[in-house]
Amino acid sequence: GSYDTGGYAHYLLKEIHEQPGAVERTLSGRLDERFSTAHLGGLNLDARELREIRRVKILGCGSAYYAGEMGAQLIEELARIPAHSEPASEFRYRNPVIEADTLYVAVSQSGETYDTLAAVQEIKRKGGRVLGVVNTVGSAIARECDGGIYLHAGPEISVASTKAFTSTVVAFALLALHFGRIHDLSPADGRRIVSALKALPEQIREVLGQQAEIEKLAAEYAESQGMMFVGRVRGYPVAREGAQKLKEISYVHAEAYPASELKHGPLALISPELPTVALVPDDELLDKNLTTLGEIKARSGRVLAIAHRPIEAKLADHCVVVPKSEPELDPLLLNIPLQLLAYHAAVALDRDVDKPRNLAKSVTVE
Ligand code: G6P
Repeated sequence: GSYDTGGYAHYLLKEIHEQPGAVERTLSGRLDERFSTAHLGGLNLDARELREIRRVKILGCGSAYYAGEMGAQLIEELARIPAHSEPASEFRYRNPVIEADTLYVAVSQSGETYDTLAAVQEIKRKGGRVLGVVNTVGSAIARECDGGIYLHAGPEISVASTKAFTSTVVAFALLALHFGRIHDLSPADGRRIVSALKALPEQIREVLGQQAEIEKLAAEYAESQGMMFVGRVRGYPVAREGAQKLKEISYVHAEAYPASELKHGPLALISPELPTVALVPDDELLDKNLTTLGEIKARSGRVLAIAHRPIEAKLADHCVVVPKSEPELDPLLLNIPLQLLAYHAAVALDRDVDKPRNLAKSVTVE
């Protein structure tokens, strides 16, 4: 076929490196510099209908669900509309209340995940309105939705999602911007997000340029019994997706926790055998996050920080520095080193990277 690993050792590595192009395609033709907003032709919702929406509920499975968590934060921050992400399966099994002023958004790379499709059908049966954030054009979920956003990320072969994840978050940033500019987001804030979105492909390339360094760290950390991933607010979905990726392809046990919850339980696990990956963006929560690092170090835990500037050696054993975006978009860039960390850990442990045991690319049965 025309789609091969193109000189990369695995599809996964190829897809990680395809992210700058995938993001360019997700953004292509959708940014409006004049009104500092986004154009999303497929929503099938005019400004008046959008103004009536009081809540956003995002549904997906696996990485699509975690991308939805980042999406929910973007919508709340930029549009100031309450937004939540939930696993599609849980949603449909709990006899959900469907509200007329809630916008439902189904997320799926394949567009064929059975649980997500069933959730969409249940919402529609009860008269709700559903948008799809989908990669595969013409897929079952795309056809079932009332409108939506195609990712245009290109085919994703490797079971673990990377470029579709990143493109999904970009699509949510566009939706949040569009939504925000109809509500209260100022033109200046709109401009700030538009320029930050345009800068993303180059910034992703910059992170990918640190692959050799991350490979070394991965070989070292892959030997651990397990890993803890922590982040606060914007960093928490990054921690969840990072832990998921590590589990999926390296089979190293990983747990994600909100950094502030460590002291309410998992701190008991901290030891040199259970290193922590900490998301430490340079935002209003930086001091809180540094305090968390101190608490981990005081229990002789090892810390790998993903940050916007080097973290002092007494708080972190290692640090990967990523370029700064606007705070709302930082999660997207903080996630990229965690993809490389999982990939290189899986390679170091000689795992079947593109086809991890027990998993399928798309789960089309209940
Ligand atoms: C499977 C895959 C995951 C993926 C999830 C949702 O479980 O192993 O990597 O995130 O399905 O897939 P979708 O195609 O709906 O995004």
